Amino acid sequence: MTSLHINPPDYVKNQKLIAWVQQTAELCQPDSVHWCDGSQEEYDALCQQMVESGTFIRLSDEKRPNSFLCRSDPSDVARVEDRTFICSIRKQDAGPTNNWVAPKEMKATLKEQYSGCMKGRTMYVIPFSMGPIGSYISHVGVEITDSPYVVTNMRIMTRMGRKVENLLGEDREFVHCLHSVGAPLEEGQQDVAWPCNDVKYIVHFPEERSIMSYGSGYGGNALLGKKCFALRIASSMARDEGWLAEHMLILCVESPEGEKTYVAAAFPSACGKTNFAMLIPPDSFEGWKVTTIGDDIAWIKPGKDGRLYAINPENGFFGVAPGTSEKTNFNAMATLKENCIFTNVAMTPDGDVWWEGMTKTPPEGLTDWQGNAWTPDSGRPAAHPNARFTSPASQCPSIDPEWENPDGVPISAFIFGGRRSDVVPLVYQSPNWYFGVYLAATMGSEKTAAAAGKIGEVRRDPFAMLPFCGYHMGDYFTHWLHVGRLLSDPPRIFGVNWFGKDEDGNFLWPGFGDNMRVLKWIVDRVHGRASAVESPLGWMPKYESMDLEGLEDFTPEQFTKLMTVDRESWKKELLSHEELFEKLYDRLPKEFAHIRELLLSTFWLSPEHWALAAERFTGEHN
Ligand code: OXD
Ligand code: MN
Repeated sequence: MTSLHINPPDYVKNQKLIAWVQQTAELCQPDSVHWCDGSQEEYDALCQQMVESGTFIRLSDEKRPNSFLCRSDPSDVARVEDRTFICSIRKQDAGPTNNWVAPKEMKATLKEQYSGCMKGRTMYVIPFSMGPIGSYISHVGVEITDSPYVVTNMRIMTRMGRKVENLLGEDREFVHCLHSVGAPLEEGQQDVAWPCNDVKYIVHFPEERSIMSYGSGYGGNALLGKKCFALRIASSMARDEGWLAEHMLILCVESPEGEKTYVAAAFPSACGKTNFAMLIPPDSFEGWKVTTIGDDIAWIKPGKDGRLYAINPENGFFGVAPGTSEKTNFNAMATLKENCIFTNVAMTPDGDVWWEGMTKTPPEGLTDWQGNAWTPDSGRPAAHPNARFTSPASQCPSIDPEWENPDGVPISAFIFGGRRSDVVPLVYQSPNWYFGVYLAATMGSEKTAAAAGKIGEVRRDPFAMLPFCGYHMGDYFTHWLHVGRLLSDPPRIFGVNWFGKDEDGNFLWPGFGDNMRVLKWIVDRVHGRASAVESPLGWMPKYESMDLEGLEDFTPEQFTKLMTVDRESWKKELLSHEELFEKLYDRLPKEFAHIRELLLSTFWLSPEHWALAAERFTGEHN
């Protein structure tokens, strides 16, 4: 074997990077090395190359200018949690909710997998910044990959290329992100449209701040800046350095008077995070505006003034397509007009895209996500339920003018929510930071048809971070308590639930744009304007302190139902917290035991006493 010349361009000065690329090239044995400069020309050339190789289909220039459709291998369509590892030096530091293998052992296994894995392919080197270039909250990584699909998606999702190379200088540290689809090509072997491997490893080394991903081309497994770096590795960095890396959207509520309030919100998948981040207020909210800073991840650091400041480390949206429509998310649809990559959606005969929920009636002559002819009678969805769009955030009509502010935006409220058909009320404000952390730690969501497991079963997903925390979840809770203790002006913490249902299974709350009504109460609370009543969970709005103007057919009774804190259900709910706590018991903050006791003692009041106490917050709201 002749040794490959990696030929770094003149502007690449970072010696650690050059050495790492050399070493990786020797291990993976690509045919050539391409140093990404991040230019439009480079992006266009890679897209064209993928059109020629059959990976991309160019969409109609009229309908979706400069946009492409990509169909993945049918087996490579989602994150693979059972193949995702946190390889900390000590097993107990990964905690019981993460898969763990000793770093040495994992590296030996991976070395075998990576050996010669890029044969017949080009190795791309992608320097990227998570966060605006030069922000003190941002961090730099370099991804090595053999997938041009990854390069083009990374160009949308991160700031990448030559401008980051300049930041790297001669000796700046960076997060090492190695990715391969794990499909070497033998001489003369024909490539497939979506190369991948049945064997998959998504591996994080938190102490080393490095990532090794093998065998998958799917976004969450392969665009390493996103879940792997910005959440799993960054959460470890954040714990060590006193900040927060969170699975949160960031939005701004602007009042008619021009008052701006920034909030960050965490919801597990399938709870409408992107929709909430791009919400359009109802007509009756004249002069009110919601703008978007981010839809998935927030990096949050304490400022000198005792407040928390947040940036969106991403540069684009990698959103779930099905369910997105002009009605549910007008701003997302506008963002998708051009310059996008669509993965696993259906295609119309005139070269446009379609997915379930985009329009009521599907267009005729669709081709499904696997490339087969499709009709509504086919008995299968046209788009994969986890079909995705990759789109530049700058194209979003609701993007906030401050979204690239290197100093971040000041966060006034955290919102935590899940999908619960009962038990959890529409909205409540935690009485203090400690209770808020407890409520976020115990948040749960019901399984939907899209996920494996029994429909309706509640899965605890603390802070919506269960699949994304790079260390022991108990330590994560302790870290949150610690960060709050050091702030002189901490954000207020709220719980929400858009998904309450009546006995017949109908949603009690309209959701979508009408969530603005809840958001307004939250903003008013933050500024000390809205009234509230005390409940065991915290502060709750009365019917009259909610702006419900223009919400037709919404009765006080419906509101009461949505806001009910039911004693028996909450007793059960608190008991079920035990399951999670038992798992994490040796590192659970002691505060949690006290808060749980306090809550239990309220819900265990005798029925007569409960009836008296509950008069305040259940029953009549008029
Ligand atoms: C995502 C996820 O893709 O949370 O954002 O899975
Ligand atoms: Mn997410």
